[in-house]
Amino acid sequence: MKNLISFFLIVFSFTNVFGQNNTPTYAPPVNFTAEQDHQNMMDQLHIKSLRPGADGNNPTAPNAANYDEAKANPYPNLPNPLVMNNGKPVNTAKQWWNKRRPEIVEDFDREIYGRMPANTPKVNWEVISITHEKIGDIPVITKKLVGHVDNSSYPLDTINIQLTLSTPTNATGPVPVIMQFGFVFPPGFHFPKQPNVKAPAMPAGPSWQQQVLAKGWGCAIIYPTSVQADNGAGLTKGIIGLMNKGQPRKPDDWGALRAWAWGASRALDYFESDKAVNAKEVGLEGHSRFGKATLVTMAYDQRFAIAYVSSSGEGGAKLSRRNAGELVENVAGAGEYHWMAGNFLKYAGPLHWNDMPVDAHELIALCAPRPVFISGGQKGDGWVDARGMFMAAVAAGPVYKLLGKKDLGTTDFPPVETSLTNGDLAFRQHSSGHTDVPNWPFFIDFASRYFK
Ligand code: GCU
Repeated sequence: MKNLISFFLIVFSFTNVFGQNNTPTYAPPVNFTAEQDHQNMMDQLHIKSLRPGADGNNPTAPNAANYDEAKANPYPNLPNPLVMNNGKPVNTAKQWWNKRRPEIVEDFDREIYGRMPANTPKVNWEVISITHEKIGDIPVITKKLVGHVDNSSYPLDTINIQLTLSTPTNATGPVPVIMQFGFVFPPGFHFPKQPNVKAPAMPAGPSWQQQVLAKGWGCAIIYPTSVQADNGAGLTKGIIGLMNKGQPRKPDDWGALRAWAWGASRALDYFESDKAVNAKEVGLEGHSRFGKATLVTMAYDQRFAIAYVSSSGEGGAKLSRRNAGELVENVAGAGEYHWMAGNFLKYAGPLHWNDMPVDAHELIALCAPRPVFISGGQKGDGWVDARGMFMAAVAAGPVYKLLGKKDLGTTDFPPVETSLTNGDLAFRQHSSGHTDVPNWPFFIDFASRYFK
């Protein structure tokens, strides 16, 4: 026994000394511009050049974005979510969960959004303030939170996730919460103008938070750019940089969308520990790039109960096989590729959209059986291709049905301002522009069917 104790003491002091002398040294962090990082990824993939994206600003440009439906479907055959890679049909829910769904996840991981590392660090949530205030005329308790990401594996990178949570003061128990990906425009960001269309002015009305609180639910905002910057230069920093110790990504490493999704999942971990929140009824909402993030989060984290996916477009709910509005080539460019896995670039280079092993309908299908509301605008929102998003929702339908749920209920593209909200997949195109505002009341009605 004595021998054993001294043995451990020796080992202990040895590792201690060793630990001190062996303070890890890291390769100097890489500080590429987005263009340099993009080029580095092209070099890793041995890609010489990429096809240019669609021009959303100049309708007379040779590569002007297409808005002619007659030219929009060069690749009408989508991969079948209910056929295994070996060609065998998927007939049961069990086959979906055990065999087919993992195949689809693997394809999205490797080729589209990248792999989330297995051993991501712990996040320590700190409540930095609690305020009693009013949102509209509803008294709420607002918590400001910071999620400190354990960076002991790479102390040169510091990440503090920002989150706010407001729940009704009068709540008598845990409440459902809708969490939004908060939109902070990156510097120098310009949304492409849509040719010859002006979005109508938005009617003033209660904010989404007021609408959600009026139902007795809570509202939360996570700031995704506190997890991962919204640009390629940031890929050696943030949570992606932390996992790579400041070095550039490999082609199947995760991109910003999955990093933002990771942050949202950590926020949900926090909600599971907060008695004010019913963590089984947490919904997600995001618009545009954060509409993409919303769909990716919903697909990968099955704890999220419902999603409002607004104007997510290419890289989100829009079929990549469509020639309408934004294209794969745009997202593969130096301004947007950081959302995706490096491997995604291949489909704007040597390969084409039809070579992608998966498409957006299968991302939606990964959310099944949970309810998803897909939204887009009309005037001034052609870039996101509402019809392509509708078609993806239709093509996800068979998976919902296999799991005992209801699909959209139609394959006909509905007139604008028509809610398709009777099933577990929902779609609505509002008549405004690139905004999530007009569809909030319709999403909340839809969510009311699930949150009592
Ligand atoms: C650009 C980009 C879209 C994106 C949008 C946004 O328009 O091309 O893919 O959704 O920005 O996030 O506002």
